[in-house]
Amino acid sequence: MNENIDKFIDTFAASVAGETFIKLTLGNYKGPDEHLQKIHARPIDTKKGTRLYFLYRSDTSDTAKNLTAPEAVEQLRRSLGKEFFSAHLFTSENDFQLEVGKRNSRLNEAKPTLKKPSSLSHDREKHRWVDQDSFYLKALGITNDEGKVRDRSQDKWRQINKFVEILAGLIDKSPLADTKELSVVDMGSGKGYLTFATYDYLRNVNGIDVKVTGVEAREELVEKCNEIARASEFTGLAFIKGNIAEFELGRTDILVALHACNTATDDALYKGIVADASIIIAAPCCHQELRPQIKPPEMLRDVLKHGIMLERTAEFVTDSLRSLLLERSGYSTKMLDFVPLEHTPKNLMIVGMRSTSTNRTSEIDNEIAEIKRFYSIKEQHLETLLSQR
Ligand SMILES: C[S@@+](CC[C@H](N)C(=O)[O-])C[C@H]1O[C@@H](n2cnc3c(N)ncnc32)[C@H](O)[C@@H]1O
Repeated sequence: MNENIDKFIDTFAASVAGETFIKLTLGNYKGPDEHLQKIHARPIDTKKGTRLYFLYRSDTSDTAKNLTAPEAVEQLRRSLGKEFFSAHLFTSENDFQLEVGKRNSRLNEAKPTLKKPSSLSHDREKHRWVDQDSFYLKALGITNDEGKVRDRSQDKWRQINKFVEILAGLIDKSPLADTKELSVVDMGSGKGYLTFATYDYLRNVNGIDVKVTGVEAREELVEKCNEIARASEFTGLAFIKGNIAEFELGRTDILVALHACNTATDDALYKGIVADASIIIAAPCCHQELRPQIKPPEMLRDVLKHGIMLERTAEFVTDSLRSLLLERSGYSTKMLDFVPLEHTPKNLMIVGMRSTSTNRTSEIDNEIAEIKRFYSIKEQHLETLLSQR
């Protein structure tokens, strides 16, 4: 009996080492945990290199761990024939089915059902943060039935991966790094691409008990996203129809607002600050508020007579003020390059990380006042909201 188990484990280890491993399922659980049912494992690229993502499915809640190859082998040695009595290994060369009975065990080998390692095949290398085989990507139209990214969705796909990469890095560097529970709100979630990827990464890759809420004004998008969340069995993901400015935030660890139009970004930033979110991420777009207010200063008169320069200045000033206002509210800020969307060239991302309150309040106030004076700006929406707090 042990011979087949040993052979199965050796085959698994060799497939991981040879990068032919696709996925593994352990079933027929008879161990002491009354809730555990199955383990699903697949390779995943992490910042520390390739890991085996082990998802422990139970009838109450799932947990996940990223294991190194030796840890995964050790897990199989501990549990095969002791707790789990069936196992199915898929490699790009063969499938292996192990059944362990009371007296005998059987190990069957068959032709491969799946052709390529799911997350390591050539065309997937660059996009390693999101599992390309995810059902929600198909349902949202990013991938086709074969799991290939549609040509028209390449930009969005790049953006989804970049966002998850940025989010992962920010969480790693924040006090949320070791948390087991998280609450995330995505303001202006639109078609939900980034909201789904956020949930999938935090819940299914990191095993965090996460609640993700997408807030969106358009009812049809909310309904569609909720349907896909249900079909994906993403139980902690929900979309709510609402206006960002009026949405009542409960506990929120991470506030996201990507391409929320014009001053909706300010409403979202304000909500995040009031909720004391640990991380605030915004990618502003459609900066319409300041442009009509700007009176070109004398020294820039011949520059800002060009519409495009005035427009870019309005964007620059708007996002500079937002960043300063976040700092004044006790956030350390970063401005990053985000991948541009297909329908907007805007690619700036503003990140606020909650820090201890600043002792530079009056300095920042002066800086804000000087910028406003220089461009003759009367009002900026986030500043107005914060002043009414
Ligand atoms: C350009 S889309 C971006 C969607 C998504 N965040 C992304 O980056 O892929 C902006 C979305 O924000 C929604 N939106 C804009 N202003 C809003 C507001 N004040 N309240 C709720 N939703 C809003 C729009 O309906 C739209 O679906």
